[in-house]
Amino acid sequence: MKELARNLCPPVLWRAMSSARRVLLPPKAAGHPGGQDLELYWDEEMAQMLETWGDGNAWSEIQFVMANCKGSVLDVACGTGKVMSILSDAPALELHGCDISDMLIGKARERGIAQDRLKVCDATQLPYPDNSFDFSYSIGSLEHFTEDGIDKAISEMARVTRTGSFHMMPTSRSLRDEGWLKTYQSFHNCSPGWWVPRFARNFGDVRVFSSSWEDPISVGSWFLCWH
Ligand SMILES: C[S@@+](CC[C@H](N)C(=O)[O-])C[C@H]1O[C@@H](n2cnc3c(N)ncnc32)[C@H](O)[C@@H]1O
Repeated sequence: MKELARNLCPPVLWRAMSSARRVLLPPKAAGHPGGQDLELYWDEEMAQMLETWGDGNAWSEIQFVMANCKGSVLDVACGTGKVMSILSDAPALELHGCDISDMLIGKARERGIAQDRLKVCDATQLPYPDNSFDFSYSIGSLEHFTEDGIDKAISEMARVTRTGSFHMMPTSRSLRDEGWLKTYQSFHNCSPGWWVPRFARNFGDVRVFSSSWEDPISVGSWFLCWH
């Protein structure tokens, strides 16, 4: 249906409508998180945004988070592999990445990440045996999954990770559980308290730290989870 609308619509108008989608709709207009907005992960504009969005905040912080870690690490929903290249200076880390978008994984290949370190897959069904990695992390990703997807992905990351799993995402500035907001990339804008039990069901120790990433309605939070 969307494809048909796109074909019938003049390109300029389609682009204008796409930009308008980026404006946050009022909560009443937000749909139920029945499905993820996945098509934008095959969009060149999104791929470009993934080259810069975490500069000076989340991407600096992951370097501190991983500073004392040694061994194999899985970047879940790694996108274009930007964070993997940022961490590639750390000789003690063997970096692997996976993402649902073959287009974004292609970009990771183009930046020189070896094919055998990358997989196209759904994070809710990770194609790795139990305890395959010493550590795992995700940045700016889980909040875009459905609620069921979040629970499955966390359980999958706990399954494939031996030691610690670290996750950064926006949490609500209001500290209220605002639910699923329909934006360019729809996402859950919820309090840290909404997230903690989801991690705690799978990890023995969960700690929350502030990230310096922020926007008008959200502030970044890190969830550092240990078995
Ligand atoms: C906002 S991007 C963040 C990418 C990267 N972590 C970064 O820091 O730039 C969200 C990523 O989640 C990926 N993604 C979304 N749903 C997924 C799923 N169910 N399984 C695996 N990857 C998924 C998208 O393809 C996209 O690369």
